Amino acid sequence: MVRRPAFLTAAAFTPPPAARRAVRALTELPARFSSRLHDERVAAWLGIALGVSVLTSFATGLVSHFMQHPPGWAQWPSRPVGLYRVTQGLHVIGGLATVPLLLAKLWTVYPKLLQWPPARSAADGVRRLLVFLLVGGALFQLVTGILNISYWYAFPFFFTTAHYWTAYILIGALLIHVADEWHKVRRTVMTRPGDAVGRRGFLLGVAAASGAIVLTTVGEAFSPLARLAVLAPRRPGVGAQGLPVNKSAFGAGVGAAARDPEYRLIVTGRVAREVTLSLADLRALPAHAARLPIACVEGWSAEAMWEGVRLRDVLELAGVDGDAQVRVESLERGGRYRTSRVAPAHWRDPLTLLALRLNGAPLDLDHGYPCRLIAPDRPGVMQTKWVHRVVVL
Ligand code: HEM
Repeated sequence: MVRRPAFLTAAAFTPPPAARRAVRALTELPARFSSRLHDERVAAWLGIALGVSVLTSFATGLVSHFMQHPPGWAQWPSRPVGLYRVTQGLHVIGGLATVPLLLAKLWTVYPKLLQWPPARSAADGVRRLLVFLLVGGALFQLVTGILNISYWYAFPFFFTTAHYWTAYILIGALLIHVADEWHKVRRTVMTRPGDAVGRRGFLLGVAAASGAIVLTTVGEAFSPLARLAVLAPRRPGVGAQGLPVNKSAFGAGVGAAARDPEYRLIVTGRVAREVTLSLADLRALPAHAARLPIACVEGWSAEAMWEGVRLRDVLELAGVDGDAQVRVESLERGGRYRTSRVAPAHWRDPLTLLALRLNGAPLDLDHGYPCRLIAPDRPGVMQTKWVHRVVVL
């Protein structure tokens, strides 16, 4: 008989007691989750709410992305004036209201999430991997989104790119998850619960938490409720000239150039004639006023009265044809939002101004003095401040 060396005997393979205890604890976990809230019906109702909020965030997120990176074949309209304000407000405030829904859902289903063994077959393994992708994607979107609106850029990657691509992973995993669980959702919606006590209270509590978040943030975009917006990082009415500021002139490093008496606005590129205008020249052009919101990608928005010259009038001076694309450039030396593209639908709009005044006074340096772009239905990062060149492409 061949004798096995001692290190190959069964006793040698027996896991240490601590590991055995950990495995036993994991396998016994589901049996301990006896609360009636870890239940299919609660998971299904929370799932329906999450489905609505995630799809809304996805759709409004795409709007924001394609406004900032328009595909060659499509142009975003300049009306209704406050459309972006609504879509981005929904994106951010709806995203915040999703937090209690997601936490409640994870709490309800965690016995399933931690099931042991982790997969019963190869197909089950793939399904479980997709569930983890779904949970990871949802947590990633919410955590990075909240850090971003808090202006805390703690992550080592560019937020917008990561948030955009993770949205597709999340939506893909969500659609598969819904298909997989659809029969339970149907069963929940079609049948009456036997004993709803406890479940109903829990779901109402989650709805109340989401509602409280909406109530304490919606004022960042809806000024009548501004006083309630205690959880919002920005509030309408707070900031220079009654308007919040994201990037100050000091932060952008443009203070001296913006105050320089030699400041000129240059219209150049594919123009019939190049035009150079001093601040006095700009002030001498026909003045127009527009009541327009400034709507930030981070969800806050506030309306203000802007006065200045129409961009289309300035382009007309340079003999620009009606279908040209235009790039507006800031005095900033660098930075992702130093320039912005203005498509014909926007620059031809009579409400699109190179603003010189805000709320009845000359523009504050932090709002883009001497001259800034303000156009209807456009993200704040594209309302270029400290404009000194308009390039026709
Ligand atoms: C961000 C969105 C969502 C996340 C993170 C999420 C997460 C989860 C997780 C981790 C599970 C346990 C899966 C398992 O391991 O078996 C689960 C179960 C379930 N989910 Fe979702 N889910 C989301 C959206 C939805 C949606 C949109 C629906 C339906 C409209 C839905 C309906 C269900 C149902 C019915 C179950 C089964 C509960 C049970 O069998 O007790 N979920 N969800």
